[in-house]
Amino acid sequence: MMKEKLQSIREKALAQINSSDSLEKLNEIRVAYLGKKGELTEVLKGMKDVAAEERPVVGQLVNDTRTAIEEMLEATRNKMAKKMREVQMEREVIDVTLPAKKNLIGHSHPNTVALETVENIFVGMGYEVVEGPEVEYDYYNFEALNIPANHPAKDEQDTFYINSEILLRTQTSSTQIHEMEKGRLPIRMIAPGRVYRSDEVDATHSPCFHQVEGLVVDKNITFADLKGTLAEFARELFGPETKVKFRPHHFPFTEPSAEMDVTCFKCGGKGCRMCKGSGWIEILGCGMVHPNVLRKCNIDPEEYTGFAFGVGLERIALLKYEIDDMRLLYENDARFLKQF
Ligand code: PHE
Repeated sequence: MMKEKLQSIREKALAQINSSDSLEKLNEIRVAYLGKKGELTEVLKGMKDVAAEERPVVGQLVNDTRTAIEEMLEATRNKMAKKMREVQMEREVIDVTLPAKKNLIGHSHPNTVALETVENIFVGMGYEVVEGPEVEYDYYNFEALNIPANHPAKDEQDTFYINSEILLRTQTSSTQIHEMEKGRLPIRMIAPGRVYRSDEVDATHSPCFHQVEGLVVDKNITFADLKGTLAEFARELFGPETKVKFRPHHFPFTEPSAEMDVTCFKCGGKGCRMCKGSGWIEILGCGMVHPNVLRKCNIDPEEYTGFAFGVGLERIALLKYEIDDMRLLYENDARFLKQF
């Protein structure tokens, strides 16, 4: 009776172990047979009903059954673990011949490259690089620069106002005033930075762009100094063959004022698509600092004179790299930027 029962437990347990497919299942089987309330444990509890002389035999049988189930569980568990390891090894195989992942390295923006070029040229001539605020008083952006209250540039159509006295600077010329107010002479400075104008975005306009301002104030500074300095700047920027031409112009804060053109660096002045056939390319505004501006900054125009200039940085970048649309400079498309 007992024997048959043990035999059938054994067969049933081994069959279940054989067909189990996970460690969890194996554990369930172990509990079901060998656990506190397991089938085999129940059999042991029934030993008291077995005749005394048969107990050692039955006891031995129970132990054998237990051992057989335990061994089978153990062996199956090992087999499963091995199999799982193999699957994992296969999945996590590392192909050391694959090319390594490249780190993406950034790239200097064409504006930055142009700025560094301009800075290097002027620092090489002994200029200091300074900065001024982008949010500016009307006084520094207009009034101190001899720009009358009714000047069209002050129109809300052109200038971003914070309130009636404070605005986003429309030109880096405001840094001229800050430098002169410091009362340290002589001055030889450039001031790069962002400027803002209420312009619609198109291929040649942006409401925010960059200028580099230049200012020299010292005794005996003449238009010849302006001309020599800017001609040298043009040669260093566009090549030694570059020639310059000054056209009379008007800026309220310089007198006389001029715009400077350079010979087209693409065709050398013969006329091409780049210079629209003229052979010349307009590059900057400049002039001798107006006596009114010097006076506003407590500098005596009888003793000191100076010249100033303003270059559009984007203009330099677009020309140098022959980019035909300013918007490309602001889109931050790495495919575009990494060409320069
Ligand atoms: N600020 C002028 C502009 O934005 C450029 C300029 C600077 C002209 C300095 C003369 C002297 O157009």
